[in-house]
Amino acid sequence: MMYAAIMGYGTIGSGVAEILEKSRERIACGAGHEIKLKYVLDLRDFPDSPVADRIVHDFKVIEEDEQVKMVVETMGGVDPAYPFVKACLNAGKHVITSNKALVAAHGTELLQIARDRHVNFFFEASVGGGIPIIRTLYRCLTGEKILEITGILNGTTNFILTKMDREGAAFDRVLREAQELGYAERNPEADVEGHDTCRKIAILTALATGKEVHYEDINTEGITRITDTDFRYAKMMGTSVKLLGISRIQGGKVYARVAPVMIDKEHPLYSVCGVYNGILVKSDMLGTSMYYGSGAGKLPTASAVVADMIEAAQNADANVSFGWKAEQQAIADRGEWESRYFVRIAGDAKDHAEQVKAAFGEVRTFVLEGADEYAFLTAKMSEERFQKAAIAFDGERQKNGEEGIRQIIHAELEED
Ligand code: HSE
Repeated sequence: MMYAAIMGYGTIGSGVAEILEKSRERIACGAGHEIKLKYVLDLRDFPDSPVADRIVHDFKVIEEDEQVKMVVETMGGVDPAYPFVKACLNAGKHVITSNKALVAAHGTELLQIARDRHVNFFFEASVGGGIPIIRTLYRCLTGEKILEITGILNGTTNFILTKMDREGAAFDRVLREAQELGYAERNPEADVEGHDTCRKIAILTALATGKEVHYEDINTEGITRITDTDFRYAKMMGTSVKLLGISRIQGGKVYARVAPVMIDKEHPLYSVCGVYNGILVKSDMLGTSMYYGSGAGKLPTASAVVADMIEAAQNADANVSFGWKAEQQAIADRGEWESRYFVRIAGDAKDHAEQVKAAFGEVRTFVLEGADEYAFLTAKMSEERFQKAAIAFDGERQKNGEEGIRQIIHAELEED
């Protein structure tokens, strides 16, 4: 018998309690012994819940109970999750968390405490919800050199972009619908501004490189500037727009960014729609592999937490070697990032053809019927070169009192 506690009886915490009960025998079989839930820490009481008799309000009860060898943190946020998790590890307890904010901000320190105390700090559920991507990286792909990770890592924004694509709807309307359905938070900033994806790609990059990644170093752009007009062009071009977290490990450098990216039907992530997540990994021997599934939600996320609990139980007296060390991984200058660009401009394509060619080189032009604008797709170029061209082009137009560039979207499309 191994005693466990859950900190935070919200959506995921209650899902973990539910799975521990429903799959008790299967979990005992995998873990080698039964995992028994002794406490649930929460500020609230849950008198009608199946864990009513195990609710505690004082963290010290868990910290000081030597019988509790495993603690699940599903509170979210950094405070008080960070001091509680740190105290549990220091007390010699295994900790399992679903909290990407905690892992991205304090993962290096918490992993090291776990190593020093011969316990485990696992966080499979922090990236990709129920998709087993972290264990895949540190166990299945452990002999592989990771070259690139590209992920649709946020279900909320993928739901919004999929709806905009399929229904031609505007961002604000779809966001409201997502909030009504409970997919988007009342304050949706972390999702729609890309911060959630940023933390997740930072964690995956740290796992791939074995070094600490500061998520603040990752250039992050959300989806709030993506419009229904962009999707009208995308439809015409046979493409779509997805919010991607991308990490490329090339020539001894690591490039990482979060941005809405135009991709076409040939791209493996094109079919990852709605609230689902998908993660594409390129590695030296295996080549391309992809991982797909529910990136959020009560039972899928809790399932990943329970898998970590089983692994912790299997390694009750040993630290499983994984994660990253304190050495910092530099993120290469964004100016070196190579991409194609989708650009929208007011006016008539024919009137600007020479100016556009002089600034951006050969482009493919797209015209929307009835629109007061056009779009073009550049060849692949560095961000530095593109930005210089865009600034010069905009400057010329503004000098003539004309409107500047309306939209710029990265495009991961094969050259024509
Ligand atoms: N808000 C996140 C999402 C939850 O939409 O993917 C899972 O991390």
